[in-house]
Amino acid sequence: MTFRLTLTVNGEPRAIELDDPRVTLLDLLRERLDLTGSKKGCDRGQCGACTVLVNGRRVNSCLALAVSLDGAEVLTIEGLARGEQLHPVQSAFIEHDGFQCGFCTPGQIMSAVGLIREGQAGDDPERVREGMSGNLCRCGAYIGITQAVLDAQARLAGTEQGEAA
Ligand code: FES
Ligand code: FES
Repeated sequence: MTFRLTLTVNGEPRAIELDDPRVTLLDLLRERLDLTGSKKGCDRGQCGACTVLVNGRRVNSCLALAVSLDGAEVLTIEGLARGEQLHPVQSAFIEHDGFQCGFCTPGQIMSAVGLIREGQAGDDPERVREGMSGNLCRCGAYIGITQAVLDAQARLAGTEQGEAA
């Protein structure tokens, strides 16, 4: 049996055929659409390395079945920069050393973009830490990550890019 769905991935319409309804969004992105920025850390919703935005909301893509997302808009780390211009959250992660090995970073950045878009980042480090608590970092780069989110939130506050981040 073939399952057909359409997704808009990073602004591009994609017609997808699956022969297995159990394919997750993460596996679809990584193995069939060659978008390997989203990482598979635990494959069970515990680490956040696979975070992408679906219709603007943060989702652990390892837990989302692709067939359930027909018609959805998906934004991954590959779709964040505009040409050569990094998204402000990406720039802030670089400036604040919000990573070491970088494995968790795509998920951290997508989660931060979602958090800011939800209006939940604020200027309170504790609130940011709570809002980012679904994203684990084995390198322990949490101080830089929190600073980066706070900085990006301040830069994006009230801007068009913040609303569309
Ligand atoms: S790989 Fe999805 S939460 Fe860990
Ligand atoms: S930077 Fe290495 S796991 Fe976060």
